Amino acid sequence: MIKRIKGTQDIYLEEMKYWHYVESAVREVTRLYAFQEVRTPIFEATELFKRSVGESTDVVQKEMYTFEDKGGRSITLRPEGTASIARAFVENGFINLGAPMKLYYMGPMFRYERPQAGRLRQFHQIGIETLGSSHPTADYEVIEFAMSLLKRLKIDDAKLYINTVGCEKCRPNYKQALRDFYADKIDGLCTDCKRRYDTNIMRLLDCKVDSEVAAKAPSIHSYLCDECSKHFNELQELLKANNIDFEIDSRLVRGLDYYTKTAFEIRAESLGSQNQIIGGGRYDGLVEYIGGKAIPAVGFAAGIERIIMVLRSMGIKPETEEIASVAVLPMLENAFTLAFEYARRLRKRNISVFVDVMERNLRNRLKHASRIGTKIVVIIGEEEIEKNLATVKVLDTGSQFKVDGDFMASFVEEKLMEL
Ligand code: HAM
Repeated sequence: MIKRIKGTQDIYLEEMKYWHYVESAVREVTRLYAFQEVRTPIFEATELFKRSVGESTDVVQKEMYTFEDKGGRSITLRPEGTASIARAFVENGFINLGAPMKLYYMGPMFRYERPQAGRLRQFHQIGIETLGSSHPTADYEVIEFAMSLLKRLKIDDAKLYINTVGCEKCRPNYKQALRDFYADKIDGLCTDCKRRYDTNIMRLLDCKVDSEVAAKAPSIHSYLCDECSKHFNELQELLKANNIDFEIDSRLVRGLDYYTKTAFEIRAESLGSQNQIIGGGRYDGLVEYIGGKAIPAVGFAAGIERIIMVLRSMGIKPETEEIASVAVLPMLENAFTLAFEYARRLRKRNISVFVDVMERNLRNRLKHASRIGTKIVVIIGEEEIEKNLATVKVLDTGSQFKVDGDFMASFVEEKLMEL
């Protein structure tokens, strides 16, 4: 038997309810905050990710699904969404649509990582990006959005960590200080640290193996330029003024190269090792770097699978979704015409209707109607056809009514409102 690829999932039935619950919360919060949806392709030129995510990152070095297409182009399944948004911004001239642009996206991302709980090779993100503002209020708003999304999902087991990763001006001095600090220690550290010493020195700070050494490393906060320091302080002031709790984690550096100034993560302590549910930050150089104007930007992405893991671990159950409010049950071969007519009348009133197109007895029809969550069934038998009637049954109470066919739709509508 052909099986699905390792690190991917089929999403169905009960699990699907969680997805709809998360997706509808996302749509609601994006509407409230006035972020507009963008859909970009799931594959892009490999160069885009090499440039934006960064050649020296784990994502580009080890985790990308890259292949040559039949035209000999190097293509990569997107490992994240920010690079594509920046590309779309430049390519489609979003700059002419006024600033700031507040955008969001939802969809699958691909990373060839070692699969484990909370870590997949095809996973899904919801991300938001504000492009065009360099002000800390934009960083604040993105964080507030993340917190409101979690609140709407009823997740209260999540903690916000913030940091700054400096900018082009101050970061080189800090990197040098790190190199000096690690110079006489590197031989004794793990292979990842050794590799990153030359290519991506700041990532040594979030090494899980050699965290004791990292704890003693110099902090970026002593190396910030005035501008970065001011930005970070203002962000903290905004968070405090708006009662958003946070902790400064001076070793939070993020795994992607494009960040400048603010970096933040939201972690759910209950999740164990893959506990980062949201990650984001500012990336003021990215749009220019991939060929656009110098447009400052800030955003975040949340992993939908990880959010669902938190919901499950907290025992939060999405409300049971009904597939249809009403089921129409034609009891005879010649009842189908009237059944479809009744269904059309109900749908005109915005009521979702399931027409039972199986051949089976009433008991089995009722059983299925209640399995898919319908509240009311409309039964059509011989008498109903002959006398233009409908038998309306409320499943919860079992009460049954014979109504004139012409008034069936308004009667059902009224009954639904009473439930
Ligand atoms: P990221 O931290 O790489 O950031 O990913 C964001 C979120 O995606 C993570 O917090 C996690 O929930 C989820 N995630 C990442 N990898 C996996 C995986 N293998 N399996 C399951 N979930 C995963 C970014 O992608 C940036 N583009 C975020 C951003 C937007 N920064 C600015 N704007």
